[in-house]
Amino acid sequence: MKPRHFLTLRDLSPQELRHLIDRAIALKALKAPYEPLRNKLLGMIFEKASTRTRVSFEAGIVQLGGAAVFLSPRDSQLGRGEPLEDTARVMSRMVDLIVLRTHRHDTVVHFANHSAVPVINGLTDRFHPCQLLADVQTYVEHRGDIRGRKVAWIGDGNNMCQSYINAAVLFDFHLHIACPSGYEPEAQLVAEAGDHVTLGHDPKAAARDADLVVTDVWASMGQEEEQQQRIAAFRDFQVTPALMALAKPDALFMHCLPAHRGEEVAAEVLEGPQSVVWDEAENRLHAQKALMEFLAG
Ligand code: CP
Ligand code: NVA
Repeated sequence: MKPRHFLTLRDLSPQELRHLIDRAIALKALKAPYEPLRNKLLGMIFEKASTRTRVSFEAGIVQLGGAAVFLSPRDSQLGRGEPLEDTARVMSRMVDLIVLRTHRHDTVVHFANHSAVPVINGLTDRFHPCQLLADVQTYVEHRGDIRGRKVAWIGDGNNMCQSYINAAVLFDFHLHIACPSGYEPEAQLVAEAGDHVTLGHDPKAAARDADLVVTDVWASMGQEEEQQQRIAAFRDFQVTPALMALAKPDALFMHCLPAHRGEEVAAEVLEGPQSVVWDEAENRLHAQKALMEFLAG
């Protein structure tokens, strides 16, 4: 039987995603030890840097009774050219779940095609679905159901933005994207999202009456050499107190972190009363425990 993977939010149905959010909230409230993944092993292969994703998966699998083994290309045979499909076949005979963080999204798809155990996308150049589980959980905890709400995406049409597009369809909210010209998300994703997404270039129009305002770095990992060019292109796309003032009075602010104060977000917003970024980061742990329980339990 083919394993279930979590490479994008679209790998799960709306009902399954809602179940995961409920489970994440329930697991967070649990005080007694709960170890449904006792003796299970999580393999982790990260081509890029990580703080939250790595720590939340390692802490999460231990709390569920299992353990993790972490590999980077530097200290595995991947860095010396062993084919990915060979690594997938070998690792999936030894571990029960694998989380991959790669540059190219195709890499996780290719790996999953050769894996006998569930593969989780821990961020690629196109998607960051685990972050969306935490973001939706955080919204639900603070404001209730996200269905029918207006979410403003301010900034790059990157992996986070594209995961928000998928989330808009699957969790049934409206996403208004404002990005600089030339930094739009993939046209096909936007087209497939239909009425769930508005794509424009005006941060004020996006933020107006929003229930949630979200942004991310202007230069993602792997785009370091574009940094200066991007700072110039994105200068009018900072989430400032003035921009937040256009949103609903009880609007929340989220950012997947790491954040750059004074670039994509003003320090007063990130540290202000509408910001829930620390809860959002913590919820990576709870949401991914729910995900691992679902895929390997
Ligand atoms: N938000 C997020 O994925 O953070 P890390 O890059 O630290 O894992
Ligand atoms: N868009 C960012 C997200 C980091 C969690 C990146 O890909 O670097």
